[in-house]
Amino acid sequence: MAPKVLVSDKLSETAVQIFRDRGIDVDFLPDVGKDKDKLAEIIGQYDGLAIRSATKVTEKILDAATNLKVIGRAGIGTDNIDKDAASKKGVIVMNTPFGNMITTAEHAIAMMFAVARQLPEASASTHAGKWEKSKFMGVELTGKTLGVIGAGNIGGIVCDRARGLKMKVVAYDPFLSQEKADKMGVEKVDLDTLVARADFITLHVPLTDQTRNILSAERLAQTKKGVRIINCARGGLVDEAALAELLKSGHVAGAGFDVFSQEPATENPLFDLPNVVCTPHLGAATTEAQENVALQVAEQISDYLLTGA
Ligand code: MLT
Repeated sequence: MAPKVLVSDKLSETAVQIFRDRGIDVDFLPDVGKDKDKLAEIIGQYDGLAIRSATKVTEKILDAATNLKVIGRAGIGTDNIDKDAASKKGVIVMNTPFGNMITTAEHAIAMMFAVARQLPEASASTHAGKWEKSKFMGVELTGKTLGVIGAGNIGGIVCDRARGLKMKVVAYDPFLSQEKADKMGVEKVDLDTLVARADFITLHVPLTDQTRNILSAERLAQTKKGVRIINCARGGLVDEAALAELLKSGHVAGAGFDVFSQEPATENPLFDLPNVVCTPHLGAATTEAQENVALQVAEQISDYLLTGA
């Protein structure tokens, strides 16, 4: 009998086609991931589960998933999956670490420009017919120091693009070797140095016990006056309440946030502050990236279910 896979989030239909082509019996129910009772009711039929971020694979779902062998996350972060519970049950968790890295890096760069030139506010003001030419004085990126926290797949692309923009790049990443840093043309520094020197700071690390609150109130207070902070990685890396206070006092000149400690974010200390650009976790939201991750997750799950590889 063909293995059965459930796609419970809005994945590109490319994934569904790949499952069919590989001889997998696939159900595409993109809204079921948000309905935890329905998901618990039906998950027992499936050998594989393909998700994005809306489906929360909790211990309760895993208890009901009596046939499940593999969960594939079309994307990078697996924080919506209870990995301890999955591993206790012998369920493999896989992600697609490369499919959306360019897109996410580009979003961080877009945020940097948007914050440097206050683009959303200037656009809203112009749409409103105000023509406030002198209100929106920006800063150049050229020659500024960018502090990159986490220089892995996405952070590494941000470093490359920022060097192309003629920024000086300092990177904090315990896994970055001196040799690699030299090759990338970035200066490897410790976190205190990065925070003290950067004109812009951008985060590209997962949320773990080590990185939670990495930009704490104390660290934020050590930043350079006029710094601009970008977070397109994960909510919880930055103390949002402390950042809001520093934005109000003018110590921090701007922030671009795509991710929030509570998502979906309907309320947040950063909302309604001028020169805070917010987007609803769009880092990976391009047609190219979504095609890539859908294709990769479908191939990986199919390989595992059909060949055990
Ligand atoms: C990821 O982890 O791949 C990104 O945050 C994208 C997403 O969750 O949509």
